[in-house]
This record gives sequence, structure tokens and C-alpha cells, in this order.
Amino acid sequence: MNESITAIVPAAGVGSRMKADRPKQYLTLLGQTVLEHTVTKLLSHPLINQVVIAISDDDPYYSTLALANHDQIVRVSGGTERAGSVLSALNYVCQNSHSEWVLVHDAARPCFRLDDVSKLIDTATQHEVGAILASPVRDTMKRANDEQDIDHTVERVALWHALTPQMFRAEPLKHALSTAIQQSVTITDEASAFEWLGHNPALVAGRADNIKITQPEDLALAEFYLRRDEEMK
Ligand code: C5P
Repeated sequence: MNESITAIVPAAGVGSRMKADRPKQYLTLLGQTVLEHTVTKLLSHPLINQVVIAISDDDPYYSTLALANHDQIVRVSGGTERAGSVLSALNYVCQNSHSEWVLVHDAARPCFRLDDVSKLIDTATQHEVGAILASPVRDTMKRANDEQDIDHTVERVALWHALTPQMFRAEPLKHALSTAIQQSVTITDEASAFEWLGHNPALVAGRADNIKITQPEDLALAEFYLRRDEEMK
């Protein structure tokens, strides 16, 4: 691949499960916000030349960061759901950028590795739909009944955790997301919009330490992974 790619970072969530005084993308790890770790690392990939970040209109934090004045970073208005935030960024990309491909990555996943991004780009660009980073399920999986007792064990052989980045062509992704949103389909990642249209994006096995900061206990783990990665540089 020799053309450059735009990364889209949905960062308009409130992160209520973190029980913190601010959205999780603005919590500090090793002296930088989670969002700064994520965006700086994306821009350090040789094929990524622009990051479009979806931020809530009433967000008081973003404008205080150096990212706000970076010439490779664009801010757009986030939506009420993650899919709406991604669509808002895609509208910008399709009107203003010449990138055929976009790579969507959660702000709350600062621990991804650049070599996983390269693997994803290689697979997605050879695939007719696109691809996502994912990791195989390790634990035995249970389906609960209404009483939160176990109804049955789910065969885990073909089960994967969907991670990000997820990489697709910008125009088809915009079409898939906007049609799904119009029809009130619940979309929690980009791949599911394509699945809903009957397509089968590729799964690329990525590192399981690409965690999404979701609950308070995730912060210490993310800090551990980031420190380890810095020491390995
Ligand atoms: O809440 P969850 O962890 O699933 O959010 C995943 C990512 O989507 C986060 O980076 C969050 O900021 C973003 N998001 C968004 N707009 C929303 C909700 C979540 O950009 N309305």
C-alpha cells in the first residue's frame, strides 16, 4: 500500500463505567491523557497522515490539549452513540480528504501496537470488504438466563473479541453506517454495519493487550502495558 490513510478516533463518550470525574479519554497515564497516547501513536505509523477525532460539542477538555492545534488533526462533532460519532468523522473524510481507506480506532485503546496496525492494513487492503483486529476468546463462555443463572455453555472455538483498529473503504463504510443508523440497528463496531448488509470482513489476530479502558481496574493495566512498551523502545 503506498497511499496514505486517515484514522478516525471516536472520543465523544462519557465513560460512565469508569466512575471518574471526567471521560476516560482524558484520564492521565504516564503524564499524558489516554487520548494523546492513542492519537500520537496512530500518527507515528508511516501510512497514517491524518487523524479525525469526534468530540462532544460541550467537551471542555479537548481544547486544552496540544492536539487541538496539530496540523494533522481535525476535530468533528461527536454523536450520541459511537456509530454516530464515526459517521460524523466519515462525513468529513468523504468531503475533504482523498483517503480511500479509513482506520477507525477507539480513543480508549492506547495500548495497541504499530505492527498490529501494519498487519491489519495488509489484510484489509487485500480483502474485498475490509478487516478488523480481533483476539480469540480464551475463557469458557456462558449464556445467562433471565435469572442470571447459566442457561448453557457457548462453543468458544470460533468466538473472537472484536478490537480496534478496524479498516474499511470510507465511502462503503459511510453507506453501511448511515443505512444501519437510519433503520435503528444497534451498531457497536464498524464491522457489524457490514455484517448487517450481508458482508464478511476479515478477522486479523491481534494482541490481547490492546485493551479498551472501561472499568477503574483497567487503568493500572494500561499504564503497565504503556510503560513496558516505552522501555522496549
Ligand atoms: O463506551 P465505549 O467504551 O464502547 O466507547 C468506545 C469509544 O467510542 C470511546 O473511545 C468513546 O469515547 C467513543 N464514543 C463516541 N461517541 C459516543 C460514545 C462513545 O465517540 N457517543
